[in-house]
Amino acid sequence: MTGASSGIGYVVALELARRGYRVAASARRADALQDLVATAAGMAGTVRAYPLDVLDAAATAAAIPQIRADLGPIVLAFLNAGSNVPDKGLGFGGEGSRRTFDLNLTGTLNCLQPLLPAMTEQGKGQIIINASIAGYGPLPTAIAYGASKAALIHVAAGLRLKHARDNLLFQVLNPGFIRTPLTAKNKFPMPFLMEADVAARRICDGFQRSGFEITFPRRLAWPLKALNLLPWPAYLWLLGKANLKD
Ligand SMILES: NC(=O)c1ccc[n+]([C@@H]2O[C@H](COP(=O)([O-])OP(=O)(O)OC[C@H]3O[C@@H](n4cnc5c(N)ncnc54)[C@H](OP(=O)(O)O)[C@@H]3O)[C@@H](O)[C@H]2O)c1
Repeated sequence: MTGASSGIGYVVALELARRGYRVAASARRADALQDLVATAAGMAGTVRAYPLDVLDAAATAAAIPQIRADLGPIVLAFLNAGSNVPDKGLGFGGEGSRRTFDLNLTGTLNCLQPLLPAMTEQGKGQIIINASIAGYGPLPTAIAYGASKAALIHVAAGLRLKHARDNLLFQVLNPGFIRTPLTAKNKFPMPFLMEADVAARRICDGFQRSGFEITFPRRLAWPLKALNLLPWPAYLWLLGKANLKD
């Protein structure tokens, strides 16, 4: 799994270890991964650290055979590394937007490219892409983040369709607000903010089912889904009335 050094990735790695998985945990910060490995000691499963920058395509590709050699077939891959880097000032499309698109999209593609042939060779596999309910539809806030997550939802659904007969299962994770270092930066109110360990259990329960979308809390996700069924004029009018700000 990627993005295991903090937030959702960290707690999901621990929850998987608790459930008996052998977890290959990656992120750039090796020290935080070592902390995770130590915390998981004594659990039913194990965690092993693979420090990695997902923007380094060659290093990411090289990690896949290494993990398979160390731990055996990769039965489940949680592609979770992601962030939201705001643009400075009033602009859009600058350094922040580009870094957001790069990590969320290119970083995920760098994982998918070597994983697909590896899982095809194994004859089975499950890949979960961490998108967000922010990917359901455009908001005036975190535009690059939302757009990158919309693209990830599209990618996950497309790959699920494409590989439906190949014994490869694709899922998308669209959580609401979870308390992590990422959301700690938010200055706006976060309705139904959830603790990370509670979310981790919901996420791992979702892995163990085969439904396409893992989303919670429903009281936030379902109204947002309904909003996105509206025709554009109604959608834009309602969102305009809400007057949301970063
Ligand atoms: N928290 C929420 O409410 C929420 C809601 C919906 C979706 N999400 C999604 O959940 C995912 C995890 O977010 P989080 O909230 O847990 O935030 P977080 O604590 O900031 O975690 C981000 C993770 O991504 C890793 N990462 C960042 N850049 C990387 C790179 N270049 N290569 C490899 N790993 C990298 C970070 O580790 P290093 O810095 O050590 O590399 C860290 O482990 C993101 O995709 C986010 O969009 C979060």
